[in-house]
Amino acid sequence: MADNNVVAEMLAAARDAMARAYAPYSNFPVGAALLGANGKIYAGCNVENAAYPQGACAEASAISAMVVDGERRILAALVVGQGAELIAPCGGCRQRLNEFAAPDAPVHLCGPKGLMKTVTLGELLPHAFGPQNLGSAS
Ligand code: THU
Repeated sequence: MADNNVVAEMLAAARDAMARAYAPYSNFPVGAALLGANGKIYAGCNVENAAYPQGACAEASAISAMVVDGERRILAALVVGQGAELIAPCGGCRQRLNEFAAPDAPVHLCGPKGLMKTVTLGELLPHAFGPQNLGSAS
């Protein structure tokens, strides 16, 4: 499948997830999609909580869906939000993605009109601390 088609599929999955976001406190729905090494796409949305810090980001939800399915390698990630401002994964989610993705993995940043910018995870999180620092291969 051509790369453009994969991005379009990821965006559609992330938009579907964003439509189901539970974001009554921020009113800022977010959707995320991950391309696993198995070729499957995993989506997630943000799920907020009345105890604010307990809320989960869309990326974290998508990672959980991927791991539950038995996949542990992320080849590409995509995040979509609303509004004109470019949305990129928060600092915590950059670290979460780094657990399962290589520094050259593309991270597609999307808005209401579609793809706005593609960066690599390494650009978002340079000099990352990761599994290699703990001598772990997984
Ligand atoms: N949020 C995400 O889900 N992903 C991001 O990359 C940035 C922020 C969520 C967290 C919270 O529910 C809302 O957006 C506002 O911060």
